Amino acid sequence: MDKLFLVSFLGLLITHAVGGNMLYDKFNILGELEDLDIAEEDMELFEGPSWISERGGKVLVNVDSFGAVGDGVSDDTEAFRKAWNTSCSTSKSVLLVPPGRRYLVNATRFKGPCEERLVVQIDGTIVAPDEPNDWDANLPRNWLVFSKLEGVVFQGNGVIDGSGSKWWASSCKKNKSNPCRGAPTALTIDSSSSIKVKGLTIQNSQQMNFVISRCESVRVSEVQVSCPGDSPNTDGIHITGSTNVVLQDSKIGTGDDCISIVNASSGIKMKRIYCGPGHGVSIGSLGKDNSTAVVTKVVLDTALLRETTNGVRIKTWQGGSGYVRGVRFENVRMEDVANPIIIDQFYCDSPKTCQNQTSAVQISQIMYRNISGTTKSKEAMKFACSDTTPCSNIVLSNINLEKKDGTAETYCNSAQGFGYGIVHPSADCLSSNDKGYILIDHKENSELAEPSRDHIVHTEL
Ligand SMILES: *[C@@H]1O[C@H](CO)[C@@H](O)[C@H](O)[C@H]1NC(C)=O
Ligand SMILES: *[C@@H]1O[C@H](CO)[C@@H](O)[C@H](O)[C@H]1NC(C)=O
Ligand SMILES: *[C@@H]1O[C@H](CO)[C@@H](O)[C@H](O)[C@H]1NC(C)=O
Ligand SMILES: *[C@@H]1O[C@H](CO)[C@@H](O)[C@H](O)[C@H]1NC(C)=O
Ligand SMILES: *[C@@H]1O[C@H](CO)[C@@H](O)[C@H](O)[C@H]1NC(C)=O
Ligand SMILES: *[C@@H]1O[C@H](CO)[C@@H](O)[C@H](O)[C@H]1NC(C)=O
Ligand SMILES: *[C@@H]1O[C@H](CO)[C@@H](O)[C@H](O)[C@H]1NC(C)=O
Repeated sequence: MDKLFLVSFLGLLITHAVGGNMLYDKFNILGELEDLDIAEEDMELFEGPSWISERGGKVLVNVDSFGAVGDGVSDDTEAFRKAWNTSCSTSKSVLLVPPGRRYLVNATRFKGPCEERLVVQIDGTIVAPDEPNDWDANLPRNWLVFSKLEGVVFQGNGVIDGSGSKWWASSCKKNKSNPCRGAPTALTIDSSSSIKVKGLTIQNSQQMNFVISRCESVRVSEVQVSCPGDSPNTDGIHITGSTNVVLQDSKIGTGDDCISIVNASSGIKMKRIYCGPGHGVSIGSLGKDNSTAVVTKVVLDTALLRETTNGVRIKTWQGGSGYVRGVRFENVRMEDVANPIIIDQFYCDSPKTCQNQTSAVQISQIMYRNISGTTKSKEAMKFACSDTTPCSNIVLSNINLEKKDGTAETYCNSAQGFGYGIVHPSADCLSSNDKGYILIDHKENSELAEPSRDHIVHTEL
């Protein structure tokens, strides 16, 4: 955001100032949201040549040397476990899953801590057994779990394939007469720090594809996630209890959220993300079963969402507590997206209806900037906030969302905010309970904002 514009915007604010303190707060919030960034400096670990050019100093641990067959039929679980133990206890080792083969591996926990500089090089395909009835009862919610690692790189052109079709068919979302039970996550990285994941494909997961839980400093790039658009609860990348995570240059198509960020996560940056099919990029759901959730400092910068059921979403259940604060969604192109911009504090993903309650996860300081494209639903922007815990300081700038028949509109319930630049469809409803304090008028706006006319075509707020 250019400073010039900020200055002219400040000028505008002063011209219209009604309450000095409120003005100050608003300007502060705007500045904070504008500047919100997540440090992306590469950790020392991530520099230097790849393992191939360094091979001299590396110890290669090939799963084939431990008896893996790689024919997609033989059980290679034991070979993988042994290879893991060897590479984990050897410094500078490369655990290699060679290309051109399919390794059938059961649910397994690959535990650290390991010796320094471990690389997990996945070039072949790892497949899960496909029969839910034979799944390991000790790991009902996981397939491949890596935990307690520090400074580990996962890379390669390989595939992690959850063989999920039977799990999907047995989901209660597919057939109401099925019991509702959880299914495994294909890849989990848990309780780890300084982790890099690059290039892998994760597909056909039983449920969530890739979970990052209780981690600190994770870099994910050039990852592909692929599941059918109708596969139930197959979130692409799910982040929970984690801080300082950067996801970039990744393409996600799935049957649930492309990315979901939940409780105790902070400092999450996503950039150059493609999403579709799927349910969009979500913060939440949060606050289920009266739980407390906190999510702060999230930035999505540059994304294309195509034919998804939501665009950028924040979803919370009635009865929760905690807060979501400091979020910026920017430079997003929407193509035929239902609910391109949505805050839903009445989220209810349960067979029975959820009653409204007096508490809710509080949502504030959410900025949407340069978001354009086509909406499939009439409500291009929907701010459905709790009556008792209103959303505050929603900032809109340069929004242009259109429905083919030209009927796009904005819905607000208990939501307060402001906007500048183009805001289409207009979002007057955000300022209606804002005591008329910042109503930027079209004409004055274009006069006052002379230095940055390109940015401000007109304002409807
Ligand atoms: C790997 O190491 C763990 C911990 O030392 C041990 O319990 C397990 O039996 C080992 N597994 C294999 C396959 O060697
Ligand atoms: C993998 O799972 C199958 C099916 O439950 C089981 O028969 C087999 O023994 C497991 N393999 C290992 C190495 O545990
Ligand atoms: C749903 O599951 C029931 C019981 O397993 C089965 O009889 C029925 O055919 C299934 N329905 C569909 C649409 O698959
Ligand atoms: C949310 O995260 C906090 C901090 O890690 C934790 O204490 C709390 O139990 C978590 N809540 C839920 C619902 O998981
Ligand atoms: C959540 O709190 C409400 C209000 O106190 C209560 O009626 C409800 O049973 C609680 N729900 C759960 C899942 O604990
Ligand atoms: C607005 O977002 C689109 C889509 O990501 C991008 O192509 C364009 O460069 C952005 N415009 C500005 C001024 O940043
Ligand atoms: C909950 O409150 C919202 C907003 O006031 C309202 O639209 C919705 O109908 C209510 N839901 C229930 C189940 O009462």
